[in-house]
Amino acid sequence: MQINDSAKYEKIFKKQIQITEEKIQSVFTGIKPSSLYEPCAYIINGGGKRLRPFLVIISAKAAGSSFNKARNAALAVELLHNFTLAHDDIMDNADKRRGRPTAHIKYDENTAILAGDNLLAYAYKYLLNDCKDNDKQVISEITRGLIEVCEGQALDKEFETRKDVSIEEYKVMIYKKTAALAESCCAIGALIAGADVKVKKALSSFGKNIGMAFQIQDDLLDISADEAEFGKMLGGDLMEGKKTYLFLKALEKAEGSDRVDLLKVIENKGIKKSEIKKYKKIYEKLGVFEDAQKEILEYTKKAISGLKVISSIEDKNQLIWLANYLIKRSK
Ligand code: IPE
Ligand code: IPE
Ligand code: MG
Ligand code: MG
Ligand code: MG
Repeated sequence: MQINDSAKYEKIFKKQIQITEEKIQSVFTGIKPSSLYEPCAYIINGGGKRLRPFLVIISAKAAGSSFNKARNAALAVELLHNFTLAHDDIMDNADKRRGRPTAHIKYDENTAILAGDNLLAYAYKYLLNDCKDNDKQVISEITRGLIEVCEGQALDKEFETRKDVSIEEYKVMIYKKTAALAESCCAIGALIAGADVKVKKALSSFGKNIGMAFQIQDDLLDISADEAEFGKMLGGDLMEGKKTYLFLKALEKAEGSDRVDLLKVIENKGIKKSEIKKYKKIYEKLGVFEDAQKEILEYTKKAISGLKVISSIEDKNQLIWLANYLIKRSK
């Protein structure tokens, strides 16, 4: 892809994100009770990347419709995503997101749980606005994605205390907690556009594979990002004893004292903040950052390789641009 082209696709992306952003900001304004809607507004604001809404609208366009046909569905997946974040932050004891205190810290846990529930309800409310004769398929698709997220989150928690998690099991877990929703976003866009089976399959597979790359990169950023830019606390995964790609790969490669140190993370159900640096060094020494990069690249290539059936060159290039743009992200 030419440099000029890349600038063109970035411009389209930014413009569409802006339109999505304006819609998001208006969802919870001026409604009561404020004890519910203020936290709802707080959760959805604050600089999310709005990747999932873009997956919906670009899929609708790539399947022969237009960005505008899937605006409500785009909003719906962002609402649903934010519901999962609010509950995830409670489950992960995370105090920071998008550079601000998480909802359960700013308010309290009960408030964050209920606001999350309401975001989910609003997701369905908005999704129904974009459904026509195939509403059953669209609702099934988002419901399937949501059940996967719940199963993935359960596995994520279950793995925290398990000693023998394999990379294969990890991949099932991240497919469920992250990639399945990205897959649903693309499928929903395709369904709204009335895509044929082949095109819907290609777009779904694109979403799934960039979703896999996305979560491995999230694991990578969790310990290597610039904290201010990332907006979440660095090293949180190690503190919680998460079985990330980096941790599992390190455990696979480590010997001697490194192995003893890694096993301590499991035995002690996580580490202290002061120990993060030490583990980052172990990761560096074992070369697991490079292993993760390789895996991210492979999933990205896989995502792109399935796009042959998309007939519009421009839309196909936009998707390719997006996949490559995500690899370079720093938050
Ligand atoms: C965070 O998602 C949760 C993961 C699946 C890694 P994002 O990284 O898309 O978060 P926002 O919406 O941009 O804040
Ligand atoms: C993805 O995993 C969470 C969801 C499915 C909501 P993480 O727990 O790694 O997400 P972050 O890093 O907190 O955003
Ligand atoms: Mg989590
Ligand atoms: Mg988390
Ligand atoms: Mg994470």
